[in-house]
Amino acid sequence: MQCYGSPLYVYSRTDIEKNWREFDSAFGQHPHLVCYAVKANSNIAVLNVLAKIGAGFDIVSIGELERVLAAGGEASKCVFSGVAKTQAEIKRGLEVGIRCFNVESAAELVRIEQVASSLNTQASISIRVNPNVDAKTHPYISTGLKENKFGVDIDDALELYKTAQQSEHLLIKGLDCHIGSQITDVSPFIDALDKVLDLIEVLKNQGIDIEHLDLGGGVGITYDNEVPLDIAAYVAQVLKKVGDLEIILEPGRAIVGNAGVFITKVEFLKQNSDKSFALIDGAMNDLLRPAFYNAYHHVLPVRENSKGVDAKWDLVGPICETGDFLAKDRHLSLSEGDYLALMSAGAYGFTMSSNYNSRPRVAEVMVSDSEHHLIRKRETIQDLFNTEYLIND
Ligand code: LLP
Repeated sequence: MQCYGSPLYVYSRTDIEKNWREFDSAFGQHPHLVCYAVKANSNIAVLNVLAKIGAGFDIVSIGELERVLAAGGEASKCVFSGVAKTQAEIKRGLEVGIRCFNVESAAELVRIEQVASSLNTQASISIRVNPNVDAKTHPYISTGLKENKFGVDIDDALELYKTAQQSEHLLIKGLDCHIGSQITDVSPFIDALDKVLDLIEVLKNQGIDIEHLDLGGGVGITYDNEVPLDIAAYVAQVLKKVGDLEIILEPGRAIVGNAGVFITKVEFLKQNSDKSFALIDGAMNDLLRPAFYNAYHHVLPVRENSKGVDAKWDLVGPICETGDFLAKDRHLSLSEGDYLALMSAGAYGFTMSSNYNSRPRVAEVMVSDSEHHLIRKRETIQDLFNTEYLIND
């Protein structure tokens, strides 16, 4: 903090690598690709560390694609998810040679075909089906139910594959599903797997061969006292059922979530008869998850403070919103000037941050062995409006 200031995100390279390798090694010799979901944390240093150990990437926009390329990732290891790909995104994906488009609708399949045809090339595709299973997670991050906007109804997929098979500009490569995020029980994954394997059988009987099965991301982590699923056991269960099919996974949170913390400083303490508030310099614009999902992040003092005020504190930011809190009712001993670490903040932390209330976005640091590196400079006040214009009159 002394050299980087506060608030701040700090990530551990060792943990990021260990977490990716846990997925990768669970497959042994079975054909597979572990595509890190870039949306969880897209800093190019994070992507670079993963690219160096062989990761593939799950991207959802041209911005994420360009980040992966700038970080030294290989286009041929990128799967392109995302619910409404633009023509420009599809064109760029084809130009750089991404591995596969995960197609989200019939209309998108038509668009991909048109763009591939205009470039006189072939697009590799996989259709994202919605297996209609309940991931039993927060409704905002559950994606595999019929009522969600994601993917193609599993009952409509056959027709779409038949359409794709007839096009000389589309190459059928895979089948894809993603049922939600922060899932800590293996059973929804296996329910979804059984459904998509049935579909693969139906496709085979129609002469449509699937080379890879992409099971998406969604593996949960411990924020509070959740017991996450055993990755090796999950992969072993998958491998028992899939024969020779190549498997792609798209984990995001499980790779970076517990490899990062958000550091914030106590500016003021404010107590009344009912409540104890610690006013901190971090806010919902920096770490949105508590405000948005009522998410829990464990709070630890960076240094124990035995002389502080003992209370059950709400950690609240300086933003003019009642929802601007990072934690509630936490038993801590605090003084002004203390630094606190919000744990498990490596995923969907910085990437969901904004400039709300004209707050510059914070710096990011990566610890690698005994060294620490600035991997994103803190925004300046000038950065806040240097792309804006006055109107001249
Ligand atoms: N693949 C697809 C198609 C996805 O939509 C997602 C996440 C992932 C992979 C990666 O899922 P993960 O392994 O990270 O669970 N902002 C929310 C999470 C949103 C997840 C969106 N999709 C949060 O902070 O909890």
